[in-house]
Amino acid sequence: MNKNNRLKTIRDFTIRGKRVFLRLDFNTPLSQPDSNGIRHVEDDTRIREALPTIKYAMEQGAKIIIGSHVGRPNGKVNEAFSIVPAATKLAELLNADVTVSDDCIGEGIEYKASQIQNGQILVLENLRYHKEEEANDTQFSKYLSRVCDIYITDAFGTAHRKHASTYGLPSIIPDRGCGFLIEKEIKYFDSMLHTPGNPFYLILGGAKVSDKIQTIQALLKRVQGVVVGGAMAYAFMKAKGETIPSEWKQPAPEDVQAAKEILAEAERRNLPFLLPTDTNSGFDIGPNTIKSYKEFLAGAKMVFWNGPLGWFEKEPYATGTKEVANLLASLSGCVKIVGGGDTVSAINQCGTEIASKFDHLSTGGGAALEYLENEGLPGIEILKTGYRPQSADLAWDEINSKTEAEWAAEKADKFNKGGRGDQ
Ligand code: 3PG
Repeated sequence: MNKNNRLKTIRDFTIRGKRVFLRLDFNTPLSQPDSNGIRHVEDDTRIREALPTIKYAMEQGAKIIIGSHVGRPNGKVNEAFSIVPAATKLAELLNADVTVSDDCIGEGIEYKASQIQNGQILVLENLRYHKEEEANDTQFSKYLSRVCDIYITDAFGTAHRKHASTYGLPSIIPDRGCGFLIEKEIKYFDSMLHTPGNPFYLILGGAKVSDKIQTIQALLKRVQGVVVGGAMAYAFMKAKGETIPSEWKQPAPEDVQAAKEILAEAERRNLPFLLPTDTNSGFDIGPNTIKSYKEFLAGAKMVFWNGPLGWFEKEPYATGTKEVANLLASLSGCVKIVGGGDTVSAINQCGTEIASKFDHLSTGGGAALEYLENEGLPGIEILKTGYRPQSADLAWDEINSKTEAEWAAEKADKFNKGGRGDQ
């Protein structure tokens, strides 16, 4: 491999005293406001998974500037999507002080970033409060770069997005790499792509087939069998000509079409493709299906699981998901990888003893699927190939006819009017 294409990690840099921009994925589910009007993080998995990189940066004496998005505020300031609950949770997990800024760019932020001491943390407010983030605006990337000597990303869950903080910014920062979480994600996803166990089985659940068709087609080339649960099973059953009882969730036409294409490919490859033979009121796989799925999966050497097998949030319909999780947890010599927020929640709901038997619970949903489909993600590839200072400068001129001063004046005007982005 070309030396320039090597993916660097945070270990490759001397970060002491440097402003390290850590792009993390703190997009976590938040509660409704409590009686004091405060929202709380409901699932801190993504924050916990980022801790090894954050702690390393603290120990090494970096000046840490954390940037993340929360939800989809559409370029507007919206308290419901504030970074504050995630920053509060981070401080609690680290048992350390964390400063939170009320914006992510501008002179005030640059000043704050210049004031933090080695080992301290500044968390920037939601990057998506500015519409320029999702638009991958080059000037916005330039603004972010003003608080960044070294760019490190551990935002695996967002690495499929070509946004300013995930793509534009690393393309203009020469010192860039990934953290320990992305390193771990890559290790497991690459093992599925390049060194899979045999047999390697795919477990599919959730609702939509059409959203996942490309990933499933890509995985059919690598697996030795597929089992399907959740509402998506009905799309496959309908594709096979079965009638779906009217009281069950009816599959959308595009899902039935996607299911037909997947079934045709599985048949061409002569792959076992298991569908439910019974259900629990249409909301979970039934006892006969659970038994046959467990028998089939018992010989697995590798499993990728995406999508719960039933309506697991409701206890009576969590049985299929739990039974299959228990079976997998009991298998030795089988690498078990789970992708997708709901599926990870379902495994965690089975308790730490079961969850700890899984080799990897990915922090990526869409990102996990895209990695498997495309064998990489833009936000990771840019770390290897991005920096071309001269062409980047040319691109700025081409893409953005405004001068930096004009853009800054426009932003200042918006700030003065009390808003930001397109407010
Ligand atoms: C996710 O939760 O999948 C990531 O944080 C990306 O969020 P997005 O789908 O809003 O880009």
